[in-house]
Amino acid sequence: MHDFKYREKDLYCEDVLIQDIAKEIGTPFYLYSYNTLRNHFLVFDEAFKDIPHVICFAMKANSNLSILKTLIREGGGLDIVSGGELYRALLAGADPQKIVYAGVGKTKEEIRYALKSDILMFNVESPQELFLIDAVAEELNCKARVALRVNPDIDPMTHPYISTGLKTNKFGINIKNALKEYKLAESLEYIEIDGIHKHIGSQIVQISPFVDALKKIIFLAKSLKDAGINIKYLNVGGGLGITYKDESPPHPRDLASEIIPLLSDTDYTIIFEPGRVIAGNAGILVTRVLYTKLSEEKKFLIVDAGMNDMIRPSLYNSYQEILPLKKNSASHKIVADVVGPICESGDFFARDRVIQDLKRDQLIALMSAGAYGFTMSSNYNSRPRVPEVLVKGKEFFVIRQRESYEDLVKGEDIPEFLLD
Ligand code: LLP
Repeated sequence: MHDFKYREKDLYCEDVLIQDIAKEIGTPFYLYSYNTLRNHFLVFDEAFKDIPHVICFAMKANSNLSILKTLIREGGGLDIVSGGELYRALLAGADPQKIVYAGVGKTKEEIRYALKSDILMFNVESPQELFLIDAVAEELNCKARVALRVNPDIDPMTHPYISTGLKTNKFGINIKNALKEYKLAESLEYIEIDGIHKHIGSQIVQISPFVDALKKIIFLAKSLKDAGINIKYLNVGGGLGITYKDESPPHPRDLASEIIPLLSDTDYTIIFEPGRVIAGNAGILVTRVLYTKLSEEKKFLIVDAGMNDMIRPSLYNSYQEILPLKKNSASHKIVADVVGPICESGDFFARDRVIQDLKRDQLIALMSAGAYGFTMSSNYNSRPRVPEVLVKGKEFFVIRQRESYEDLVKGEDIPEFLLD
């Protein structure tokens, strides 16, 4: 469910006519619905109300401070993967005791920053990382709380670039070696073992991979207990998919009804790291048709957003629904490629899409763009990054300014020898 809906022929976000925002701030821009975002969080939270849990939003999906703040105010924690994300998380007011830190390549400086910030725990991805965390904790004379990220070797049946829980992926510690690595962790003086972490992939639209993976980590938790290692948290990661086109992913309630019974005789606190399911359908990218172009083979709609603003179609061949902000009266449809202005053939949002016959200057929305949209954008082709806007009820707020040309060269220096 989301709050981007037509009234008559016009697309609204909550109670705001989206074309009005475009008039005021120009295009392209990302647009988020506060109500949708908040609801997605509350629905997830409600689904698991019968078990102790913490929802740590995977902020790689959307790290805008106002988006984070919206979720933090509802009691959300955050899943981070870098020092930069930790900085944003703290600035947004996240409770450090609800921050979990994953990622295969944490640097010493990042580990120090996280320890000083007293985050809930690190999700450790290798024995070498464990040694480094122990050493940094010793320097700071504190205990580092950790979970080991185990790789349960489960096929999440999703796009290969976003599947993470197979033994051929770089993530985690092979579940077969987990007991050994937990014993290693136990032997380290400045490490406190608090949990098990797994995350098997993203845009998962079936329940069974979640169930199979959870069974494996519950089994591991029991083996740890037998070995005298008691943990408090099971972190089941994120990965629940959304509807981009015709997928019908499980509702968080369906997921809950399958996994809660598996936990019935345990008292673990469950950590969830949802990203896409919270933010994905809470955001869109609004862009303008600059030109229409007819080649011998194809019709192109050239729009003012490019792959630098939204890379998912180019990178994963993802489907993003495209809706006109104003529906035409005529029902005539065309087949067209919707492409951006970037100098690459891979710069497309849709290929051979059946779409309303759009003219120059008409506005369209790339739907389901709230997760992995702005966060994956870049300045490629020296294009300033686009603004982000949040709608709440009848009002809208620019929550990130459009970058300027000056922003593009910020921090660049020309050495003296080039100045003559
Ligand atoms: N936890 C960990 C450790 C993760 O690596 C991820 C996502 C998540 C949680 C959140 O997963 P979600 O609930 O959003 O599926 N850029 C890709 C998605 C990459 C996901 C990476 N990890 C895309 O646009 O589809």
